Amino acid sequence: MYVGIFPDKKSLAEAAAHHLTQVITESTHKVIGVATGSSPLPLYEELRRMHRDGEFTLRGVRAFALDEYIGIDDDHPERYRNVLRTELVGEDKTGLREEDLMTPDGSAPNAVEAARIYDQHIRDAGGITIQLLGIGSDGHIGFNEPAGSLASRTHVEILTQKTREDNARFFEDDIDKVPTRCITQGLGTIMEAHETMLIATGEKKADAIRELVEGAVSAKWPATILQMHPNTRIYIDEVAASKLELADFYRARWEQRHEA
Ligand code: F6R
Repeated sequence: MYVGIFPDKKSLAEAAAHHLTQVITESTHKVIGVATGSSPLPLYEELRRMHRDGEFTLRGVRAFALDEYIGIDDDHPERYRNVLRTELVGEDKTGLREEDLMTPDGSAPNAVEAARIYDQHIRDAGGITIQLLGIGSDGHIGFNEPAGSLASRTHVEILTQKTREDNARFFEDDIDKVPTRCITQGLGTIMEAHETMLIATGEKKADAIRELVEGAVSAKWPATILQMHPNTRIYIDEVAASKLELADFYRARWEQRHEA
């Protein structure tokens, strides 16, 4: 696990975008996994700039979302398919084509079956080359909440009270408007990505980052499963890194990492 500690969101986003685009450019298997929430937004902004300036395009790349709310209106701006459309889809954004954006079907009559089908779609696509992740303050990745299976496949999950409180800011600060259920890639699904990269900034993430990097692997903090992944990078700011005991060592190791 490489841990990169950055002074601000902009330098973090530039470094993360540099790595993501390098991996995709060099790979013959152009499939990315994309996250929603606020953490990847500066990275998506940088990808739009790179597309505008002709440095990189997501045209021809397939993108699989990590998760989707169940029971959210099709045209709701916080439906994750709509968030990703707004951020990434189109020649005026990153070049990603609508038909290349895959999201779990949160409005399917049978959500369990929709989850199974989504997992199969990822397999049929030959898996994910690089999976982008955020982390919840309770340690979730995707929407794999505490004490689920560390080997789960894409499945239906219910959101913790903590996650719904955290996400109320996307729903007019009204927790009752935050959906209670979602379809999420499982931890086993995420672990099959060839490479993963996780972005976290701010004080609210400091406990989860401490557990992720230095805690024991445990279903209580689902993100800790990434310690078992052979190819993971963690991009964090100084505040999110503030509870790490060995931060200086991680900085030194980051400097000496071998680029992909
Ligand atoms: C979103 C997702 C979640 C978020 C996490 C952090 O697709 O899977 O795991 O990454 O809840 O959200 P933010 O970035 O808004 O703090």
